[in-house]
Amino acid sequence: MKRMPLSAQPQERVNSSRARLTPAQRSNFWPPVAAGYALWRARSLTVLSGEELALGREAALFLGLCRPQPGERWLDAGTSAGFYAGVLARAGAQVLAADLSPAMLAVARKREPAPQIEWAELNLEFSGLPSASFDGVTVGATLNETRDPARLLRELARLLRPGGTLWLMYAARTGTPAQERLARLGGLTFPDPAWVERQLPGLRRAAGARFGSVQFERYVGEAEKGATPHAPSR
Ligand SMILES: C[S@@+](CC[C@H](N)C(=O)[O-])C[C@H]1O[C@@H](n2cnc3c(N)ncnc32)[C@H](O)[C@@H]1O
Repeated sequence: MKRMPLSAQPQERVNSSRARLTPAQRSNFWPPVAAGYALWRARSLTVLSGEELALGREAALFLGLCRPQPGERWLDAGTSAGFYAGVLARAGAQVLAADLSPAMLAVARKREPAPQIEWAELNLEFSGLPSASFDGVTVGATLNETRDPARLLRELARLLRPGGTLWLMYAARTGTPAQERLARLGGLTFPDPAWVERQLPGLRRAAGARFGSVQFERYVGEAEKGATPHAPSR
């Protein structure tokens, strides 16, 4: 596995991209938002799904379906307060935890001090990282906030090695007025799972689970051998 040069994305590109961020993305730069994020995150999936979906249950679902191995290189895309980065580090993986927001990264570093996590300020829609440099990628709700989710998915698929694992958690489209308001005012996107699948032509949807509007999906690169057939979605 190639070592990742964290300087691959010039700082100017991160900065210039800020002019084109959505309101939701910009909100993550405010220190009070970053400071309170972990508190919201601990309850958010329960609120969004309407059933008890605590962080421990989410971690167990991810670990059970994706099985990250010690020594593997994983990217946590839009790490925020470092939830998936921490889960991966405790499983023994080497993690690049990336986020647009320096305020989020500062909070995450304190919460998850494991030495096998590297932290990087990157816009992952155009990361500049080498192709095929990760065994796995976790995307916890970043799809909802990024400016161009199709572009983000293309870029993350490029970063994944053949046969690698892509884990997605996102609030899927329900068409409710609340989602439409958030889309209009905050620039949020609530993708349809079939749309997500169409953005990932080189990957196969290997497993999924649905809790209310909260969608979890595991995709695998084409080269994976001996993969199990699609698990039924809930
Ligand atoms: C909903 S939060 C992610 C939560 C986190 N993944 C978790 O599971 O707890 C979205 C995060 O993605 C970051 N983000 C949004 N668009 C991004 C992009 N294009 N590149 C990198 N980070 C991005 C935001 O700064 C924010 O911290």
